[in-house]
Amino acid sequence: MTKIIAIDGPASVGKSTLAKKIAKKFKAPVLFSGKLYRALALEIIKRKINLNNTEEILRSITSIDPGNLSSAELYSSQVDSVSSIISAKKQVRNKLITFQRSFPKKYGNNIKFAIIEGRDIGTIIFPKANYKIFLWAVSEVRAKRRYDQLRKNGKNASYSKIFREINVRDQKDMTREIAPLMPAANSVLLDTSYIDIEQAFKAIKRIILKTKTI
Ligand code: DC
Repeated sequence: MTKIIAIDGPASVGKSTLAKKIAKKFKAPVLFSGKLYRALALEIIKRKINLNNTEEILRSITSIDPGNLSSAELYSSQVDSVSSIISAKKQVRNKLITFQRSFPKKYGNNIKFAIIEGRDIGTIIFPKANYKIFLWAVSEVRAKRRYDQLRKNGKNASYSKIFREINVRDQKDMTREIAPLMPAANSVLLDTSYIDIEQAFKAIKRIILKTKTI
């Protein structure tokens, strides 16, 4: 049986970076569930769909190609904002559940682990996941990481704008009625505010391998 590793946490906490490192270490496929919401947001922006028009938004889900979620267009502050708004819609979330749950099945018995990262993976999508990791870091630290990453990629960035946007998204993701961001009762909470990515990765490896030291 494939073991499910659920990784949840707020914006810019390092979920994707850590998921990629775990994927490499354990030769496991990874689904970045936020990309599904982002792809839908991009479609909405391109088609100029009104964010209150839920019917039209739901129809647009059929244009998402889950096998092709690598466009750089998925990462812009407009997509950040629209994806956060539409992800609060119950019908949108329900439509995306099936795809997320069927992700590990695509690989049959050929994989030992499958990784899914997002906001509600350990709580709603895979409540019986074998490993549930909830990553946390204070928003100042997350904003700084995002800022440094953008600057490293040669992009213009404003720390105070990023900090503001992260707090707005946190507020939306944590207070929405449907599937709010919160640690599953039986998750391991890993606060990465004052540790680096390698230390966080070691901690996760210990959890998966059930070892005391590495
Ligand atoms: O992880 P991300 O930043 O790529 O996610 C984009 C948006 O999608 C974010 O505002 C929250 C939402 N999201 C969600 O509600 N549930 C998930 N499982 C993944 C993402």
